[in-house]
Amino acid sequence: MVTFPTIRLRRLRYEPKVRRLVRETMLSPDKLILPLFVRPGNAVRKPIGSMPGHFQLSVDELVKEAEEAAALGLGGIILFGIPDTKDAEGSTAMSDSSIVAAAVRAVKQAVGNRLLVITDVCFCEYTDHGHCGVLCRNKHGEFSVDNDATLVNIIKQALVHCRAGADMIAPSGMIDGMIKALRTGMDDAGFSSVPIMSYAAKYASAFYGPFREAAESTPQFGDRRSYQMDPSSAAGQALREVELDLAEGADIIMVKPALAYLDIVRLIRDRFEGVPIAVYNVSGEYSMVKAAAERGWIDEQAVVLESLTAMTRAGAGIILTYWAKEAAKLI
Ligand code: PBG
Repeated sequence: MVTFPTIRLRRLRYEPKVRRLVRETMLSPDKLILPLFVRPGNAVRKPIGSMPGHFQLSVDELVKEAEEAAALGLGGIILFGIPDTKDAEGSTAMSDSSIVAAAVRAVKQAVGNRLLVITDVCFCEYTDHGHCGVLCRNKHGEFSVDNDATLVNIIKQALVHCRAGADMIAPSGMIDGMIKALRTGMDDAGFSSVPIMSYAAKYASAFYGPFREAAESTPQFGDRRSYQMDPSSAAGQALREVELDLAEGADIIMVKPALAYLDIVRLIRDRFEGVPIAVYNVSGEYSMVKAAAERGWIDEQAVVLESLTAMTRAGAGIILTYWAKEAAKLI
């Protein structure tokens, strides 16, 4: 093997021009998706304490964010709704006057085709118990999410979003069969051209903490471990989730959270050629950096670009991130 002094890897590092030439992992605004939280009211811009720079927005304020996202050339926005009333089924999510439906209509009217509008489809923000579907009792008499009954409702929620004009549907509940149910339901209703981005490998993660404050969706009892994946489960289980979702008709698959799960992204990238992979750079990942930056302990901009680059290098083509606007300006 030819080695030093013939080989000097630093030759490619001395000059900025050379470093730039040999770079392979590039970020681009059109790969970034900005999550936004919408709530009822007018002129509401309620700061989310654990996520500095993010707000619960009324529809009129949300439209301004959407305009900005379009002007920056972002890949899209993903909407989460915070309703004013909750019940056991999350029925407000299944009404054509739901907060997300109103938001989609308003954004579409304002920015038209200049921005991709994705909706998160889940029930945890709409149920009074904070779980991601309807409940039943398991064999121990404890409450648990009723898988098949929830599927019926997921279709109803997704159709509300489709009728409002959503460009893409993103189910996040980790309910077995959700992609098949949605694809069939949407096709039957005339929405066969609306893609589904599946939260395929979504782990039961402590990194979602700040989001639950933002979306007011903390489970009122128990946790989400009976539907979201166990972080200690075999990595291959994520491959099975992806394989099933693709077979059921998912167009884009997602891994969530991002940074602690880049091994999973790489596994999926290597196994499934040609499948678009998204990662969700979640709330806890955002808040940790914000908190450290506020104390002057790290350089936020550098850390953000480095993290987004790592996600891209691992194989993610699409990144959902609360830094989408800032990153688009930096790139
Ligand atoms: C809803 C949902 C959650 C997130 C996205 N969709 C929360 C959860 O599963 O508890 C988390 C996003 C984030 O932490 O930024 N099911």
